[in-house]
Amino acid sequence: MKKGQQIIHLSDLHIGYKDCGSKSAAIVRNIIKSEEPEKTIIIITGDLVETAFNKNHINTALNLINTLRKAGFLVFICPGNHDYGSGFVNSKEIAKMFNKTFLLTETQFPIVNPVGNSLFIGLDSNAEELHWYDRFFADGEIGDAQFEKLKEILANKEYKDMTKIVYLHHHPVSRIPFHKLKDHNKLKEIVKNKIDILLFGHNHIGNSYNEKWGIKIMLDGGSSTGKRVLFKPIHHRKIDLSNFSIQEKNYLNIN
Ligand SMILES: [Fe+2]
Repeated sequence: MKKGQQIIHLSDLHIGYKDCGSKSAAIVRNIIKSEEPEKTIIIITGDLVETAFNKNHINTALNLINTLRKAGFLVFICPGNHDYGSGFVNSKEIAKMFNKTFLLTETQFPIVNPVGNSLFIGLDSNAEELHWYDRFFADGEIGDAQFEKLKEILANKEYKDMTKIVYLHHHPVSRIPFHKLKDHNKLKEIVKNKIDILLFGHNHIGNSYNEKWGIKIMLDGGSSTGKRVLFKPIHHRKIDLSNFSIQEKNYLNIN
């Protein structure tokens, strides 16, 4: 297996909520124990913390991400609604800090990372949710500025033959009222039949929608720490990019 040829998809850790911090630490420990960093890219599709207004939550999340990075793993992250505030009330100041703190960059989304023959494209689905009137719902909106750039990236000949992975927080195909990305139709128009993998989270459900929108792998990561995941399995999925196979893992319980 070549560099960066497998993805571990995590989502909605909610560090700071009940035992989600210790569960996140166990996941990180077990990934380091059982996976080879040079092969593995970890994608976390948002809601790292329960509330970004609490510095302890942010610092704990940052320590865990740094532990993975120091162990040699590439970690790609996009923000969830809880990473920009409380989940319902957002702060533009915190939003500005997210890239600097977690991504170590001041580049704006979409964030593009080529690794080997794969192209990783992160979107910020909170971008158009920072108005006062957006405060009361949590459905997410990407906005035209990112869509224009996404179109350019997907049309770029340099990337033509690469495996394309897009990740965002909000759910583009949910049936739950007010929990579906507002501009899901625009996203569909742009990525349909043009990318290989679409990863997201937000609703803590964990369903698979593979082959929908002409995309081989389309996964809702659920909540990796099991926040309000009752009677449903927790999904920690490992995707092999050489054959697009998906393996169900449980990094909470590896001895
Ligand atoms: Fe969440």
